[in-house]
Amino acid sequence: MKSNIWLKRRLKDTYIKKAKSQGYVSRSAFKLIQIENKYKLIVKSRNILELGSSPGGWSQVICELNKQSKIDAFDLLAMKYKNENINFYRQDFFQYIFKSFNKKYDLILSDMAPNTTGHQSTDHLKITSIIQDVIFILGDISSPKSNFVFKIWKGSEEKNIIYQLKKQYKKVSYFKPKSSRDESSEIFIVAENFIV
Ligand SMILES: C[S@@+](CC[C@H](N)C(=O)[O-])C[C@H]1O[C@@H](n2cnc3c(N)ncnc32)[C@H](O)[C@@H]1O
Repeated sequence: MKSNIWLKRRLKDTYIKKAKSQGYVSRSAFKLIQIENKYKLIVKSRNILELGSSPGGWSQVICELNKQSKIDAFDLLAMKYKNENINFYRQDFFQYIFKSFNKKYDLILSDMAPNTTGHQSTDHLKITSIIQDVIFILGDISSPKSNFVFKIWKGSEEKNIIYQLKKQYKKVSYFKPKSSRDESSEIFIVAENFIV
């Protein structure tokens, strides 16, 4: 029954159709396009860190919009999209970062999502724990005035995250792209102008 609903939703999903017809490897591409239409962060960034990059919809958008950008992309799964401007690391970002990392980025993007349990508040805590780990190292990986965009699923920890980020960035805002499903608690947080 459940898989029937899932199948019907997929068939109706205009963004899945759009992704196919426009050659994007995932429908997620449209979320980043809609974020970029509003905030214009990719066009002004040279070094970009992309967390949770596979199969590569976001990477594709970055490569299309800014041919000068150099992307370090991390995911546990393989990428479908490849481009000479992407250094792809197939590994857990957090395992990598604590070894030897001394690079700074103009833009940090996270579309990382943990495996879900279906229990909303548990899933919320799982994704916010990942983001807290990124926030913990922002000082080491952010260039001055850099920007940070990430996905979370809404819930109790959200205010605390915003509170922390407001001390580190000049502007912090919420964005729900049109391509993000209405029934999903997914939301993107856009933090602009990192204060060193
Ligand atoms: C929604 S998908 C990303 C879609 C991608 N942005 C695109 O446009 O095609 C979320 C991804 O986060 C990855 N992920 C979750 N935890 C991770 C971690 N600790 N390090 C690297 N990748 C992780 C998952 O493997 C999954 O592929």
